[in-house]
Amino acid sequence: MKFTLKNIKAVYKSLFLCFFINISFSQSLINDKLESRIKNITNAKNFKGVISSENVLNISNEFGLDNDQIMELFRPYSKMYSKAPISNYNVGAICKGGSGNLYFGSNIEILNESLSFTLHAEQAAIINAWNNGETEIRNINVGGSPCGHCLQFLNELNNADSLVIVNPKGKNFRIRDLLTLAFGPKNLGVKTGLLAIQKNDLELENESQDKLTKRALLAAKNSYAPYSKSYSGIALITKESRVFYGSYAENAAFNPSVSPVESVLSSLNLSKVPFDQIVRAVLVEIKSSKVSQKNTFQSILKRVAPNAKLEIVYCTNKK
Ligand code: THU
Ligand code: ZN
Repeated sequence: MKFTLKNIKAVYKSLFLCFFINISFSQSLINDKLESRIKNITNAKNFKGVISSENVLNISNEFGLDNDQIMELFRPYSKMYSKAPISNYNVGAICKGGSGNLYFGSNIEILNESLSFTLHAEQAAIINAWNNGETEIRNINVGGSPCGHCLQFLNELNNADSLVIVNPKGKNFRIRDLLTLAFGPKNLGVKTGLLAIQKNDLELENESQDKLTKRALLAAKNSYAPYSKSYSGIALITKESRVFYGSYAENAAFNPSVSPVESVLSSLNLSKVPFDQIVRAVLVEIKSSKVSQKNTFQSILKRVAPNAKLEIVYCTNKK
């Protein structure tokens, strides 16, 4: 065969095509590999909406992804947990704790109840991190700016000033960029913040050896209620004997506060446990305190788990 110009061009053309097919093939292999890696983590039986710092580090090294890319990578997976039967508007958020772990959070709406029981995705992510022992949040990603309600909620964090709001559409934000002249704990003379360790000195009115009651008391001891001092917590057990708990988290602007029932339901949701699996739930709160969770606890749990046995146990503040 003669090496005519036409032949050489054809060889180059096929080499060029091969090169591109190869690149897109290996690219799709990486994507498939990444996807199966994520699914391995999120489909694990004991997955509860937490990606360990070890997994985060391994994935970012292996696939060459930075912090913001990793947080954006997991956001669609967090959104899958959204329960929005009223708005049909599904939201997923991801936050990163001081430990380096990532936490999922998705919005929850309760059908046939007031809209004020709605838990926003950002709130769910922070509560998830708090429930898992984090004392600081480094970043949060909800795909852009959090709504005004959530900015107010985030402004309660003990490290609100250093929190980075990851914005996959452009430059990252700080709370102060989006919530100017903010109202916060300092306006009400509160020096602590949400996620700072709480050790409320509570004891049960009547001593109990019941495990669930003890767990609910611990949740109340960890609750954040610097405004009303009405500490409270819930523990519940499911048909499969799994125990979940949630603490009350107040907010300086009051309305963005998260009740212990919202907190514990979010924990159940992120563990893929249907609410009607709840068998028994215990609320621990202070008798005749300024704020009571009793009615919220009863009405919400009756709605989502009509057969659950509900108990209210009172405690006192030793101080
Ligand atoms: N939502 C969030 O979860 N986060 C936001 O920042 C915007 C709004 C939820 C709340 C409600 O379930 C639905 O989206 C419609 O507002
Ligand atoms: Zn919001």
